[in-house]
Amino acid sequence: MTNVRHWASFVAFLVCIGLSSCAQVEDPCKTKSRVVGDDKYCDKYWECDNGQSIQYDCPNGLVFAGKHRGVTEGCDYPWRSNYCEYPKVQINPPIGTEHCDWLYGIFGHETSCTRYWTCWNGTATEQLCIGGLLYNENAHSCDWPENVDGCQKHPLCNDDPNGNVPLGKSCNRYWQCQGGYPRLQRCPAMLVFDRRSLRCVVPPTEDCDVPTTTPAPPEEEDERPVQQQKRPANEYSEAQPGRQRPRN
Ligand SMILES: *[C@@H]1O[C@H](CO)[C@@H](O)[C@H](O)[C@H]1NC(C)=O
Repeated sequence: MTNVRHWASFVAFLVCIGLSSCAQVEDPCKTKSRVVGDDKYCDKYWECDNGQSIQYDCPNGLVFAGKHRGVTEGCDYPWRSNYCEYPKVQINPPIGTEHCDWLYGIFGHETSCTRYWTCWNGTATEQLCIGGLLYNENAHSCDWPENVDGCQKHPLCNDDPNGNVPLGKSCNRYWQCQGGYPRLQRCPAMLVFDRRSLRCVVPPTEDCDVPTTTPAPPEEEDERPVQQQKRPANEYSEAQPGRQRPRN
């Protein structure tokens, strides 16, 4: 295969000298798939149409992966494989829309470490990392907090990496930050969380008269970003467009 490719490059090189046109390596009309990637630009490809070699652009943000490969039109997200290795470059500039750096892609959330955007033709869909995972910009997927630069320490714990933080209006639940990772805690029976001293105290406090005995309603996903306890490895979730993961 490599030899064939080298041979093709060599032939193309001779053709280049002859025609002073080096836009592509192979003539797509001479290939079985009738589609070849451009040899300089990873977001362009050539297709054989009625015996003519025509150049096409991948959808904005995508690079050529091969016929019937990638996410659409033979094109894929650049990070999914080594589609775009030096000296090949993406030549088309990004076309951004709200939340999308490119029309197609997966992008970080502006304000949340647990959310991200999938963009399809410029339309953004908000996605959620579950089970305490955070969105990893480099992997374009949900990942363990310790692998996510800038998000290992949840913003909740910014003020004091080992302090307590009130949980909404709850009188008996609170966040306990441990080294920047928040864990959900409950005050011992008969005590309430005092948002002044940030401790569980004997009521009454300014906000809480008696300990609540009924369990608090489940928190918003954003409010329980990190549960460091046992998590099965299969909870690793790859961020994928159009596949919203169920909340749990
Ligand atoms: C992408 O969106 C534009 C308008 O926003 C539309 O004209 C075009 O047909 C869409 N393309 C695809 C492939 O859906």
